Amino acid sequence: MASGIPDLPGVDSTLAFFREGYRFVGNGCDRVGAPAFRTRLMLRPVTCMRGPEAVRAFYRPGRMTRRGAMPASVVALLQDRGSVQTLDGSAHRVRKALFMDMMGDDRLGEARRLLAEEWQTAADGWRGRTVALRDELPPVMTRVALRWSGIDPEGTDVAQRAEELSAMIEGAGGLGPSHLRARWLRARSERWARETILTARSGGGDSVIARIARHRDADGEALRDDVAGVELLNVLRPIVAVARFVVFAAHALHVHMAPAGPVGEDDAHRLGEEVRRVYPFFPVIGGRVLQPFDWRGTAFAKGDWLLLDLYGTNHDSAAWPAPGDFRPDRHRDPRADRLVPQGGGDYHLDHRCPGEWLTMALLTEAILALTSMGYRVPPQDLDISTRRFPPWPADGMRIAPA
Ligand code: HEM
Repeated sequence: MASGIPDLPGVDSTLAFFREGYRFVGNGCDRVGAPAFRTRLMLRPVTCMRGPEAVRAFYRPGRMTRRGAMPASVVALLQDRGSVQTLDGSAHRVRKALFMDMMGDDRLGEARRLLAEEWQTAADGWRGRTVALRDELPPVMTRVALRWSGIDPEGTDVAQRAEELSAMIEGAGGLGPSHLRARWLRARSERWARETILTARSGGGDSVIARIARHRDADGEALRDDVAGVELLNVLRPIVAVARFVVFAAHALHVHMAPAGPVGEDDAHRLGEEVRRVYPFFPVIGGRVLQPFDWRGTAFAKGDWLLLDLYGTNHDSAAWPAPGDFRPDRHRDPRADRLVPQGGGDYHLDHRCPGEWLTMALLTEAILALTSMGYRVPPQDLDISTRRFPPWPADGMRIAPA
């Protein structure tokens, strides 16, 4: 590979990656004075890149595949054999349309209505107590996710589902006991999802689960039961994951905006965008080259491994003035190639997250609910580690509703 992209000094950067966490790629780019550098991770050669120009190079329909591009620990919990993330070309486009078609305004409005309802019920039970939002929100979001998908929460064990869906996110960034527990819970969740799909196959309607059950792939075939189950989890799990952004929003309201009173729709939306930009969630996205290309004087060959820094792009001072400052107003001028907490590029033709509008709809509604609810924030450790993938505020963001 002829290269104009500088090498990071040292033989292998695996230890630095875990030591520096979310800041690893950004630190490396600052060190070599370029938006990309070459190194090795787990002894494997990799090009790490950040910033809008890198986003445009990485996201070109057909250029990269997600197969073989992330550690097995992440694949086992957040992707799966046959799921949309593992597909390319026309097979990917047809499967992706299944998710994109779920994101009409009516369904986004429904998601907000469900969240407002479930929040109200939960908040009634919080009154007079001190609660950690980290612990309270996953079951609330699980009920929203089930109902939005057309699954009656009364017909399943919501606490179990919340535990499984949360564990997949918690366990993805590590290899220790919590990862092994998450693998076991994932297997249980897949069995439940398969059975739920089987039941949906005998019904009709236009719910999310009915659409997954009757979806036909590019080859005209219906999804196998296990693959349909995996795609159902690909909807439920990330809706529960939105709880983390809601917790971060509560953190931001306290740390950056206090005292926060009720806010309007537009302010809540921009606050949510800034939460998605600033707070750490998905650190990087990995890809392997499918179609060879040149970038910055470097020829990338089929199979080469690239890591695009999502967190670093959201904090790149070349793209965001004063990136460390929390300023919701900067989102008056939206820029999709630099705000990439959920990936970049084209939704239909590439792997950009199809749930971005749903995430924003739920987050905006949750911010409206939070800011119209009176609560105190008791003294606590508000630190958020950037070395844990992904982190929570240390004490779980405890609040004491009035
Ligand atoms: C893909 C993040 C919410 C469904 C992705 C990707 C990221 C991401 C980083 C990978 C992009 C890539 O490979 O280039 C997030 C975050 C969320 C979130 C941080 C908020 C907590 C959602 C929601 C849904 C969803 C609410 C519900 C439908 C998916 C699916 C993919 C995906 C199906 C695979 C898309 C593909 O391979 O074409 N997400 N997401 N996500 N997300 Fe999300």
